[in-house]
Amino acid sequence: MAITLKTPDEIQKMRVAGRLAAEALEMIEPFVKPGVTTGELDRICHRYITEEQGAIPAPLNYHGFPKSICTSVNEVVCHGIPTDTKKLKEGDIINIDITVIKDGFHGDSSIMVHVGNPLPHLQKLVETTQECLYKAIDIVKPGITLGDIGHTIQTLAESRHYSVVREYCGHGIGRVFHEEPQVLHYGKPSTGTKLEAGMTFTIEPMINLGQRHTKLNKKDGWTVTTKDRRHSAQWEHTLAVTDTGIEVLTARSNEKYFNHKT
Ligand code: MF3
Ligand code: CO
Ligand code: CO
Repeated sequence: MAITLKTPDEIQKMRVAGRLAAEALEMIEPFVKPGVTTGELDRICHRYITEEQGAIPAPLNYHGFPKSICTSVNEVVCHGIPTDTKKLKEGDIINIDITVIKDGFHGDSSIMVHVGNPLPHLQKLVETTQECLYKAIDIVKPGITLGDIGHTIQTLAESRHYSVVREYCGHGIGRVFHEEPQVLHYGKPSTGTKLEAGMTFTIEPMINLGQRHTKLNKKDGWTVTTKDRRHSAQWEHTLAVTDTGIEVLTARSNEKYFNHKT
């Protein structure tokens, strides 16, 4: 399958789905406090997405995923499963990854939150990971390549002595949750697919404090951790390439990409 270019009508539907994913993240962030369980965060999001937004939480039953959001704490890189036995504690970091389906289209985004007061070394990791995402977003326009995106992220992360996860990547998105192209978070300038207006995809760098290698939990089939058990951070946005640059479909109201019209 080739990369599908979205029509203006389809992009409009993705704007709506993207805005709902952003609003669900803004809704849940204040609930992240010492003592709350990831199971509770999942229930709050499930109710909000289904009842307030009239949308569908895409992860639920996706290839058998059992919950409505992903919650990845500390050394968990991605795809953490919410559970009532996982209580957050002061000093933890958590990635909350929300994907909603509205009118047939997906919006996929994730944020990092510090539980209680941020620990300085984790604050630096979390901020650098967000900077990696923003720096990549800021170069996107027709004519650049996927390799340019990966190279931008890898260069910044490694300049701060962090490592870039290789086994998981960003992805095309639309009617389908994960479609072509694969958006690697490492790479070489001017290599790979050239971007064109109408492409919609995510960028979602996973950056580790220690080594880049990951390990999949064979018992649950989902939870990905760092091999060395050191912390990992991730931020994600869904984007559309426009004639002149980019539109961040999942921008939150406190980000420079936010557009009141959407
Ligand atoms: N939202 C994740 C992503 O960014 C995918 C989660 S799939 C699930 O692509 F099944 F784990 F929920
Ligand atoms: Co994604
Ligand atoms: Co996601």
